[in-house]
Amino acid sequence: MSETLSRRDVMIRSVPALAMAGALSLAGPLLGATIGEGHASPIEHDAFKDGEYVLPPLPYAYEALEPHIDAETMHLHHDKHHQAYVTNLNKTLKELAAADAAGAVPAAPLLSGLQEDLSFNAAGHLLHTLFWKTMGPGAGGEPQGALADALAKDFGSVAAFRARFAAVAGGVKGSGWAVLAYEPLAGRLIILQVKQHDLQLAPWAEPLLPLDVWEHAYYLKYRNVRGEYVKSWWNVVNWPAVDEALKNARYRYRREG
Ligand SMILES: [Fe+2]
Repeated sequence: MSETLSRRDVMIRSVPALAMAGALSLAGPLLGATIGEGHASPIEHDAFKDGEYVLPPLPYAYEALEPHIDAETMHLHHDKHHQAYVTNLNKTLKELAAADAAGAVPAAPLLSGLQEDLSFNAAGHLLHTLFWKTMGPGAGGEPQGALADALAKDFGSVAAFRARFAAVAGGVKGSGWAVLAYEPLAGRLIILQVKQHDLQLAPWAEPLLPLDVWEHAYYLKYRNVRGEYVKSWWNVVNWPAVDEALKNARYRYRREG
């Protein structure tokens, strides 16, 4: 039986996590390792160290996802693109802190630009961190257990989820993501079509399975045929990691299946 949560309950239970995450709802799964005994997440807390955001190492070799995702793409994507979001996130926070230290609030256009940079780079860093960890060599297949049940309950069937998720990914205009997320108010799974890294995300909804459809994720191998990349990507989805993230999200909000 699911516990019914009021909006106030959800707010109260979300606040500590938000405070820890610097008001980023995206950070939920990344903080999973701190949730409690028996609810540790496979998503390690390795994207922030010694007061700075850092590039987490890939949890597998660059060529491990071949032939579905090629090693050169992984090198560029992880070492260059993801690193750039980390670098710019730290830089933005330093610029904001410098303004605070100087006792001067930046002029409105500059401040708005910094806020945009903060959101863009923070979301880019966190989504990529989750992206690497929800893929793996020898993965793919079908989701099992609680995750499979939740997908069937909220989308009709796992096949219907796959079809909708692929359509959402294929329909991203320009750069963005398809994201399977846990919406804690209703205790259900939703698919978000995220523009860039940060637009059209739902507050408190925790990304469980993000698919990067920026061209840097697939263009070297798949050129302009995004649909082929999405079709191939299912072969590297680490379903047990997604299942674990769902369990952690439910635990955080004291919900059952
Ligand atoms: Fe990316």
